[in-house]
Amino acid sequence: MKPQKIVVCNDDFGEKLARKIGAKIVKFEKRIFPDGEVCPRLMSAVSADEAIIVNRMTLPMDPNSYFLETLLLAKSIIGHGIKNVDVVMPYFVYGRQDKVFRSGEPSSAKFILDLFEKTGVRKFYTVTSHAQRHKEMLDLSDMPSYNVNGLIPVAEYLKKKKFKNPIFIGPDQGSEFFAKTVAGILGHKHDMFYKTRDKNTGKITMSSNIDLRGREVILVDDIVSSGGTLINAINIAKKNGAKEVYVYVVHLVSDKGIKNITPHVKEFLCTDTINTKISNISVVDILAEKLKG
Ligand code: R5P
Repeated sequence: MKPQKIVVCNDDFGEKLARKIGAKIVKFEKRIFPDGEVCPRLMSAVSADEAIIVNRMTLPMDPNSYFLETLLLAKSIIGHGIKNVDVVMPYFVYGRQDKVFRSGEPSSAKFILDLFEKTGVRKFYTVTSHAQRHKEMLDLSDMPSYNVNGLIPVAEYLKKKKFKNPIFIGPDQGSEFFAKTVAGILGHKHDMFYKTRDKNTGKITMSSNIDLRGREVILVDDIVSSGGTLINAINIAKKNGAKEVYVYVVHLVSDKGIKNITPHVKEFLCTDTINTKISNISVVDILAEKLKG
């Protein structure tokens, strides 16, 4: 008898998720030709009622190949006659471009979801997409798309810490929500810094007059890319008197962040939506809960 559900994956993240939801594991091989083209290969039969592709990147990431690899996998599985194919992209590539910021740019996030939908994907799952302003991302796509909250495992992890006088801070207006979520779960206070970023040069300007003397400052954000936002925030926290600074983010999308941030803080960790050296907090449980419905 064919299994009800299979998880198509190629690392321990997908395997853990498969075990949590009681699905059979089908491995795929990541093949990249010398010219850079991707050709993912299913390593065993994919007969099932339902298939969930769980594809996760490792640093240094290549979002273009990753996206095509996931799309080709979906096409190939659907081609094997499985109608119910869902995609789990723990980090939603192109999700940051969830609208046209400057004229002439594409609305990339919507287009990526459209391509999955047109390929025949039934549902799409991700974690703390930058598209958080779109509730469940439903207004981006007609395909059911779910944005699971990656700050919940961050708060769970922080429950073990013995902070004396903590304050949770979002390094900019957009990330106040993240600091508020974690602080709310732990019953602590939150605040935010103010950031502006020049859309053309990328130059960051940040300010705050919050008195942080003697306090543990826990900076919470969704993404670290260049590390520029958090480096500015760490400097301000220290200038305003912070006793210790900690940094927790959902997605670390570049190694630069580790090099630039780790030496200046007590602890810097991220979740395992992308496989990095500091992915010590796992989103597998919350994804499994969402997949189980
Ligand atoms: C921006 O709005 C996000 O929440 C992050 O703060 C940003 O993506 C981080 O980028 P970077 O590390 O390059 O400053």
